[in-house]
Amino acid sequence: MSFKKLSIMLLSAVSLAALMSGCGSSAKEGNTSTTALDSVAKVDESTCAQCHGSAYNSQSGMPIYSEYVQSKHFTQGVGCQGCHGGGAQHNGVGPIPYTNPDTAGKCWGCHQPAFLGKYNANKLPTAIEAAHFTNMTGAGVHPAMFVSTNFQNGCTACHEPHNPLLGKGAAERKAWASSGHGDINSPAFATEDFKESTSCIRCHTSTGYSNFLANNWTTPFPSTTWAMAGDTTREVLTCRTCHVNDSFTVKSAPAFVAPYNNNKNPKTFPSASKSNLCIACHSGRESSDTIESVTDFTNAGFKNSHYKAGAALMYMASGFDNFTSATTKIGTTTYQKTMTPDNVSVPTYGIAGGVTSTHRKLGTTLINGDGHNPAVFVPGSFDDNGPCVTCHLNANGAPTGNDPATGRRPATGHSWQIDGNAFTQVCINCHTSEQGVTLTADNFQTAFLEEQAAGFTDALGLIQNQLLTKYNISYNADAYPYFYDELLPLKNGSKQQVKDWTRGTKNQVYGKRLMGAAFNLNMLTKDAGAYVHARTYVRRLVYDSIDWLDDNNMNFSTGATALTALPAVYTKGSSAYTGGAPYAGGTLTTGTTASMAYLIGWTGTGAWSTPERP
Ligand code: HEC
Ligand code: HEC
Ligand code: HEC
Ligand code: HEC
Ligand code: HEC
Ligand code: HEC
Ligand code: HEC
Ligand code: HEC
Ligand code: HEC
Repeated sequence: MSFKKLSIMLLSAVSLAALMSGCGSSAKEGNTSTTALDSVAKVDESTCAQCHGSAYNSQSGMPIYSEYVQSKHFTQGVGCQGCHGGGAQHNGVGPIPYTNPDTAGKCWGCHQPAFLGKYNANKLPTAIEAAHFTNMTGAGVHPAMFVSTNFQNGCTACHEPHNPLLGKGAAERKAWASSGHGDINSPAFATEDFKESTSCIRCHTSTGYSNFLANNWTTPFPSTTWAMAGDTTREVLTCRTCHVNDSFTVKSAPAFVAPYNNNKNPKTFPSASKSNLCIACHSGRESSDTIESVTDFTNAGFKNSHYKAGAALMYMASGFDNFTSATTKIGTTTYQKTMTPDNVSVPTYGIAGGVTSTHRKLGTTLINGDGHNPAVFVPGSFDDNGPCVTCHLNANGAPTGNDPATGRRPATGHSWQIDGNAFTQVCINCHTSEQGVTLTADNFQTAFLEEQAAGFTDALGLIQNQLLTKYNISYNADAYPYFYDELLPLKNGSKQQVKDWTRGTKNQVYGKRLMGAAFNLNMLTKDAGAYVHARTYVRRLVYDSIDWLDDNNMNFSTGATALTALPAVYTKGSSAYTGGAPYAGGTLTTGTTASMAYLIGWTGTGAWSTPERP
């Protein structure tokens, strides 16, 4: 029999005996209630060190004693037994009252709001304290918190137990706290009690997501049973969203199946290793299939893709592209064919001749040998974490990891930002210059990303312009359901939402395409990284939406529309770039704006494409 089994057996025998004897007990430090386990006598603390001095914690993988002596628990006199309970019956073979003091409520017992002053003379820094415990009981709109009800016995979801401030995960925790995932005031966590809705908890709460993942993304979504009546606490996306407690081991996640349109049109995403974790929340809630299923566009509420759906764009899963039939040819181009991913970079559902994407291959074995830098893209490098984790957090085995201590991206990756470290670890291997400017960690935002982002944003402005001038529909990205009918009178002082998408024509196909263009505008507006996530696909969604909106005809008229509708933004010289493509040293041709070069196509030499569609 192993020590472990023996100690568990003895523990239950002893605690039962202690309970039955009803032995009185004095309140021990920090406990809200006192149980028989608390009355087990303590021994000299040094005895613990004698046997556990060089032991490792099997859950966290960290040494116990050397971690512990770095914590304030050691310096402030909270001994091993302050957490684990008295060791009088243990001595290495007998039971110890609390094998996991966290799940037993010991951390919470000392640190819950009511005890803050008592056990911490200096009190916690107010902001940190507030982030942990704000509004444990408040109703209505209020911030989320680190320690929602589900985490009162779960401090080790975010803190290593034996050195909770400085131990494993400390740097990641700081970065995480600065990110949207850890923002207690984010509308994504604070506006409502998301756990009360089965269709929201999977993305808006840590526990709901964990349940959803543990059930292999099965629908219906995790039941609300964990949301106890009267529990008004709101969760941020704690470390437990993606990690196992204590160890911070990354949870494994299967390929995501997005339950679009109430699961009537589910879509299975390709499996992308650790990035499957991200895809599950960043794939939006609806796809174009939801629009296809609407039967009456003379009276239909707007179908909302939902926010930050970068994965839906990268995998070409959601955009509305039914502006013409799949077989229609305009000149020699078939519009629909090239709105589907290729079967090389998306082997599970692409087609031959579809849209390829180098970014989509990042973090998968498909990147091995990539021609942009075959010396770097070798097996074991950049080929395992999936695209999202590779750009936003860390590339596996990257030779240019910029933390000398670990050879990886620094822990600041947990802010998820595409920062200078992301550039030097990942982007620089392919993007070395733009229009003759050598890219560096310091200038890539301004010299590269901002210009591309501006072209993208201007294109969205052109869609808005067409909706307003040709259909009397205004777009307000901040006010759901976003699309307002300028022809209807104000109601209670507010604009009325668009319901008649046929705009009086009663033509259902027209109505569908108009809502489709609006759907694209909203989805693209709500993903600030769309121009990177799926460059070609996004340019085509934009192009086609405008081509249809300007005259209800797919006739390659987008460029001409841009010139007349927004002449201050769009001008066109004899070519897009002079001297080659921008990544090969070419610069914008005189008379061509960067926004025009974003909107319509050009060839590798910088000449305008014919037809102009990108
Ligand atoms: C701040 C509270 C706290 C203090 C102080 C503390 N522990 Fe722990 N310990 C925990 C928690 C929580 C766990 C269970 C979670 C885990 O293993 O990660 C744990 C687990 C353990 C384990 C089981 C590890 C395993 O591999 O299963 C041992 C052994 C242990 N502690 C010994 C000690 C010793 C010895 C000391 C004093 C040097 C000590 N602990 C101080 C909180 C504490
Ligand atoms: C004589 C050596 C010895 C002493 C003294 C000792 N331990 Fe242990 N301890 C062990 C051994 C051996 C185990 C069993 C390891 C296992 O189950 O894998 C253990 C297990 C534990 C566990 C994990 C129990 C479980 O069931 O998972 C904790 C927690 C623990 N010890 C804490 C302490 C604390 C606190 C002290 C001081 C009061 C202490 N130990 C003193 C040898 C000792
Ligand atoms: C017996 C009461 C008690 C228990 C149980 C307890 N703590 Fe503490 N904790 C303290 C005290 C006292 C301090 C020191 C406060 C100070 O001086 O700032 C402290 C400090 C801390 C700190 C900040 C300083 C540092 O260096 O670690 C963290 C984080 C922390 N505790 C987390 C935990 C976690 C997580 C658990 C459970 C695994 C836990 N505590 C269990 C009393 C306790
Ligand atoms: C969702 C993640 C999360 C959970 C859960 C969590 N914490 Fe924290 N904790 C943080 C962050 C972030 C900080 C501040 C940044 C840092 O670690 O320096 C922090 C800081 C602290 C500090 C202050 C350390 C100092 O002196 O600066 C204490 C004490 C603490 N936590 C205790 C706890 C206890 C006790 C629990 C469980 C009841 C808990 N935490 C649960 C994320 C969390
Ligand atoms: C449980 C759902 C969920 C998971 C899993 C998730 N996200 Fe998010 N993510 C969100 C929400 C909600 C926001 C918006 C938070 C806000 O606005 O404060 C967000 C925001 C972001 C942002 C915007 C940056 C910021 O600081 O606001 C980035 C980038 C991001 N996520 C990337 C990722 C990546 C990469 C992964 C996978 C490693 C991932 N997300 C996993 C829900 C999730
Ligand atoms: C597929 C994952 C997913 C589901 C399911 C989901 N959301 Fe979201 N939601 C997100 C993400 C990601 C964001 C981050 C947007 C941001 O902050 O910009 C978000 C943001 C929000 C916001 C904040 C918007 C703002 O102003 O920034 C609200 C409100 C919201 N969702 C409501 C809901 C409601 C209500 C439900 C359930 C009916 C729901 N969501 C279901 C992923 C999801
Ligand atoms: C949205 C998902 C997500 C969240 C939330 C998250 N992480 Fe991570 N974390 C990851 C992924 C994915 C990796 C793996 C990166 C890699 O393979 O290089 C990782 C890696 C780590 C590592 C390195 C592990 C190792 O073995 O090298 C640590 C430590 C860590 N995270 C701690 C934390 C802490 C602490 C928190 C909460 C404060 C947190 N993470 C929140 C996704 C997440
Ligand atoms: C080639 C690198 C790259 C890849 C791969 C990538 N992203 Fe991004 N992502 C970016 C850039 C660049 C931005 C824009 C950052 C900025 O605006 O500062 C961004 C922005 C985001 C945002 C914030 C959008 C907003 O509206 O604020 C989210 C969320 C996000 N990405 C999620 C993902 C997800 C999920 C995946 C995987 C499907 C992914 N990203 C893959 C580079 C990448
Ligand atoms: C493996 C090589 C590779 C890596 C690594 C890479 N990219 Fe790219 N990137 C490309 C290619 C190839 C294109 C052109 C895409 C197309 O034609 O569809 C591109 C296009 C872009 C574009 C569109 C602008 C343009 O000039 O075409 C942006 C912006 C961009 N990448 C940003 C990034 C960022 C930011 C990173 C790092 C986080 C990154 N890329 C990493 C290969 C790469």
